[in-house]
Amino acid sequence: MYRTKTCGELRLTNAGESVTLAGWVQRVRKMGAMTFVDLRDRYGITQLVFNEETNAELCAAANKLGREFVIQVEGTVNERYSKNKNIPTGDIEIIASKLNILNESEIPPFTIEDNTDGGDDIRMKYRYLDLRRTAVRKNLELRHRMCIEVRNYLSNLGFLEVETPMLIGSTPEGARDFVVPSRMNPGQFYALPQSPQTLKQLLMVSGFDRYFQIVKCFRDEDLRADRQPEFTQIDCEMSFVTQEDIIQTFEGMAKHLFKTLRGVEFDQPFLRLPWAEAMRRFGSDKPDMRFGMEFVELDDILKTGSFPVFDNAAYIGGICAPGCAVYTRKQLDQLTDFVKRPQIGAKGLVYARVQDDGTVKSSVDKFYDQTILQQLKEKMQANPGDLILILSGDDAMKTRKQLCELRLEMGERLGLRDKNKFALLWVTEFPMFEWSDEEQRLMAMHHPFTHPMDEDIHLLDTDPAAVRADAYDMVCNGVEVGGGSIRIHDPQLQEKMFEILGFTPEKAQEQFGFLMNAFKYGAPPHGGLAYGLDRWVSIFAGLDSIRDCIAFPKNNSGRDVMLDAPSAIDQKQLDELCLNLNVKE
Ligand code: AMO
Repeated sequence: MYRTKTCGELRLTNAGESVTLAGWVQRVRKMGAMTFVDLRDRYGITQLVFNEETNAELCAAANKLGREFVIQVEGTVNERYSKNKNIPTGDIEIIASKLNILNESEIPPFTIEDNTDGGDDIRMKYRYLDLRRTAVRKNLELRHRMCIEVRNYLSNLGFLEVETPMLIGSTPEGARDFVVPSRMNPGQFYALPQSPQTLKQLLMVSGFDRYFQIVKCFRDEDLRADRQPEFTQIDCEMSFVTQEDIIQTFEGMAKHLFKTLRGVEFDQPFLRLPWAEAMRRFGSDKPDMRFGMEFVELDDILKTGSFPVFDNAAYIGGICAPGCAVYTRKQLDQLTDFVKRPQIGAKGLVYARVQDDGTVKSSVDKFYDQTILQQLKEKMQANPGDLILILSGDDAMKTRKQLCELRLEMGERLGLRDKNKFALLWVTEFPMFEWSDEEQRLMAMHHPFTHPMDEDIHLLDTDPAAVRADAYDMVCNGVEVGGGSIRIHDPQLQEKMFEILGFTPEKAQEQFGFLMNAFKYGAPPHGGLAYGLDRWVSIFAGLDSIRDCIAFPKNNSGRDVMLDAPSAIDQKQLDELCLNLNVKE
């Protein structure tokens, strides 16, 4: 037996016991005749003591231990003279009587402690060492517990976990596919699923009634802090349900997770916000509701014929940043630079300070007199000390999105985006379609299988852009943590949808024939949702990036720097797959 106890379980009640521990050397400290070793495993840290006076040979061996050596130690549990209140084993230490080095270690490339000296790149390269750090390991422990709670919650409601294939056909809607060449079918490719969407719908046709799967999904898209090319969904589908049934079920699941994993209880139902309202008030379909700073439309006040930039704008909107009138010129210039960054793309920023005496001092004083500025103050409900920030533009939607970025930035600066506060809501009534400049056609905003809202079906032929979808997203702290919809189960309506999306009947049949054919054999009304597991875990753990709750994530260029993937394959493999490369430098 390698050990009788772990490094996290001994307490004062164990004093006097003989134990054997095994683990990694975190640190060696020599103090006079004594040598102290912190021994670490997944469960915690236990202090080992070697005494030169009682066992010189053993102590000499301990002095030679290096960081991350793997050792086995026998000894007696002893009450510590100076206790460490920061760790659960801090009341005891092990007086070592035997030491066995199980494996030596080279000096690790960074210190494996909570406050490591390793930068991002080096820690990703040696991810297996990074995972020894408590902070990172805790995220994976939370992830594990979340999966268990998800399985418990859904199993109790009669959901069956069913695995669907990873090698499927490519579907052009949505993000780009990762594809896999088939050796046995030369010139043909599988695609890795962007989600098991069509397969879970087929399971409903099969009568499974309630399905779920904790499943890997793959999307070849540009990466951000909350996006990885491979990520995990809690994917769910139900038959004979309305939007309300689904919202109830999955709001229940979110509440269950918060209660069991964070000890947070919500006594009210989550807010529901139609998409158009979310865009109008926050410029986003995933508004961060931890703070206010709602948009105020200012066209009526600021279009006076004196300031051409505003007079010609399609939209003028402002936010009121409480207490920020003290911002210096430099800080305001920084904010202007912030909104002018190419990622945001605003042309400029107008500001107005409400001074202590109630008068307003703005960057556009030469175009507006104090009467107008006072109307502005009233409409913004601004108080002395507040700063009004205004953006305008000739595309209302774009300008709202820019103002949204500014609102988030101000929320951040004012410390209003508290990681221990959770603001959840459903965004509903999404538009069915959005125009794609790149494709020059309407695209499904959610996916082509989404059912239109019943009351808008009559607009499909005449005004498709006005049709709203029976779709819903769940948003937590400004992050889309899940989304879903009621699906089309009528083959004719599905065909019509493909037609609006610009598919010829042949192309629709070629790509989605399997689904449309299945619908001919008694498809029940159905709908579902997928939660993003990585995003949930990162919100629960207060992380800035989902990378930190994924054991082996990709970097921002989509690379696994530890495995050095993706990488070239040899000519023999290419030949077997009938592939000729045409890489342009
Ligand atoms: P959707 O595309 O909205 O819907 O995805 C569902 C949820 O998955 C998470 N997610 C991601 N997480 C990390 N990295 C990514 N690249 C990434 N992309 C998405 C988000 C998102 O809300 N089949 C539909 C669901 C349905 O209709 O039932 C779907 O995939 O949290």
